Amino acid sequence: MTDVQRSLVLVKPDGVRRGLSGEILRRIEAKGYTLVAVELRDATPEILAAHYAEHEGKPFYAPLVEFMLSGPVLAVVVEGHRCIEGFRSLAGATDPTVAAPGTIRGDLGRDWGLAVQQNLVHGSDSPESAEREIGIWFADLGA
Ligand code: TYD
Ligand code: MG
Repeated sequence: MTDVQRSLVLVKPDGVRRGLSGEILRRIEAKGYTLVAVELRDATPEILAAHYAEHEGKPFYAPLVEFMLSGPVLAVVVEGHRCIEGFRSLAGATDPTVAAPGTIRGDLGRDWGLAVQQNLVHGSDSPESAEREIGIWFADLGA
C-alpha cells in the first residue's frame, strides 16, 4: 500500500483569466483525486518569496513573480495515493509548447511570446515540497 498524499496545486493567473479553473479541477476529479480545499486567492510578494524560494536568483524569477501577481490564483489541496506524482503527470512538462497532448499544459497551454512561461498550473514536486507549500497557502490546514 502507498500512503495517501496531499499536493498543493495552483491554477496560475493565466488559467484563471482564461476561464480554465473548472476544466482543470474537472481533470483532477476525473483522475479520481479528492479536492480538500479550493480557494481563489491574490498572491502576495511574501507568499511568492516563500513558495518560489528554490528559484530565487534564476533569470526567470522576477518575471515569474510579476506574472503570479498579475491576477488571482486558485489554490487547491489535492488528496490521493501518489497524487503528487499523479498531478505532475496530469500537468505535463514545464514548457507548454512541448508538453504532451493529453496533459493540462499540452492541451491548453502554448508559448505567448512573453518573458516567462505561462503554463497554467503549479503542482508540488515532492512530499517535502507539498508539506511546505500547503503550509504557505493554507496555514490552517497543515499538511
Ligand atoms: P519549475 O519548478 O522548474 O517548473 P514546474 O512548474 O514544472 O515545477 O519552475 C517554476 C516555474 O517557473 C515554471 O512553472 C514556469 C517558470 N519557468 C520559466 O518561466 N522558465 C524556465 O526556464 C523555467 C525552468 C521555469
Ligand atoms: Mg516546480
